[in-house]
Amino acid sequence: MNPFALVGEVRLKPGKEEPCRRRHPWVYRGALAATLPEKKGPVAVFTANGELLGVALPGASTGSLALRMVAFGEEPWNASVLRRRLVRAWKLREVVREHSEAFRFLHAEGDGVPGLVADVYGRFLVFELYEPAWESYLPLLVEEAARVSGAKTVLCRRSYEIGVEVLKGAAPAEPVPVREYGWLLVADLLGGQKTGLFLDQRENRLLLSRRARAARVCNLFAYTGGFAVAARVGGARHVVNVESSKKALALAQRTYEANGLSWNEGEFVQGDAFLVARQLALRGEKFDWVVVDPPAFVKAAEKQARGLSGYRHINLQALKLVREGGMLLSCSCSARVTVEQLEGALLAAALDAGREVRVLERRGAGPDHPVSLFCPEARHLKVLWCAVF
Ligand SMILES: C[S@@+](CC[C@H](N)C(=O)[O-])C[C@H]1O[C@@H](n2cnc3c(N)ncnc32)[C@H](O)[C@@H]1O
Repeated sequence: MNPFALVGEVRLKPGKEEPCRRRHPWVYRGALAATLPEKKGPVAVFTANGELLGVALPGASTGSLALRMVAFGEEPWNASVLRRRLVRAWKLREVVREHSEAFRFLHAEGDGVPGLVADVYGRFLVFELYEPAWESYLPLLVEEAARVSGAKTVLCRRSYEIGVEVLKGAAPAEPVPVREYGWLLVADLLGGQKTGLFLDQRENRLLLSRRARAARVCNLFAYTGGFAVAARVGGARHVVNVESSKKALALAQRTYEANGLSWNEGEFVQGDAFLVARQLALRGEKFDWVVVDPPAFVKAAEKQARGLSGYRHINLQALKLVREGGMLLSCSCSARVTVEQLEGALLAAALDAGREVRVLERRGAGPDHPVSLFCPEARHLKVLWCAVF
């Protein structure tokens, strides 16, 4: 069956066409004048007046997004269009391939493939589907992605299903070591979070590595210790990694070993970062650098107030741990939290902590996570590099 063949058409309600005209790829359910065709597949999207807006793939039936646009106006939607998008994305990653083996190859909306992600880990490639609509394109995607990347194994994860499917080659028997700048990270492609690693933090790990000489570092929400090995390879004296997942911490130890790093007492602490940071502060511990990289606290619009208070609370504990003149790297990966909101949470925390905070740089993900100017909401990671007095 041809996955590019249109299964039907849909009209929008009057006045709901403006985002599509501005090449925004999301159409919410409330904008549809009628229900979508029962058959799943690409549909032609029209204004209430019958003007063609483009072609879209259906969103998962449970989500608030009804459609994700893959072509606008008269643009075609076919195999050569999709192949071209993959080739273009691969070329854009050249700048990252120069120094790192693990990177994002396809970044959903940012690469013209809304709801679809692909990450490369050396000779392994992992797709992550956020929309079931991409399922029927997998044969073409696997063939073309393997061709341009040279991947020997292609795996598939799905945000709506547990488990990993092997689409090509053999699954790795062990977690996979991959070079990132001057250190190795060990990625569990079958059971790790995301597709294995948080690739969006690469440039921020480099920042820390370059500034970590002789530093004491507190790495809150450490996952597999990416920031920690970057810091230790950069000459940090000691890192305290705090992480709730036992499995992630076990992989962090393997990551240290892969880099030939020994560890001291207290380098790995399993626990709730809120509680552990508080205990460290009560003990009067001070660090040259504190990294705060929590999971997304704001996952839905209605949970925003609660999520923002989470950022305020953890940053308050973190600020107490930074020595006079030390550095804080405060991150949020909630798409729904703007950088101004993160700064607002940090401001409230600074007032509570009685500390002066200067933002040296607003940062984000690296160039393998492009953001379409037409869809700024897809910018997830916000990072504030701050000096604390
Ligand atoms: C965004 S990831 C951190 C990624 C990491 N900085 C890196 O560079 O690989 C967030 C991590 O926080 C952990 N986590 C979630 N809630 C936690 C909590 N309350 N205390 C400690 N860790 C937590 C998750 O298991 C996950 O590993």
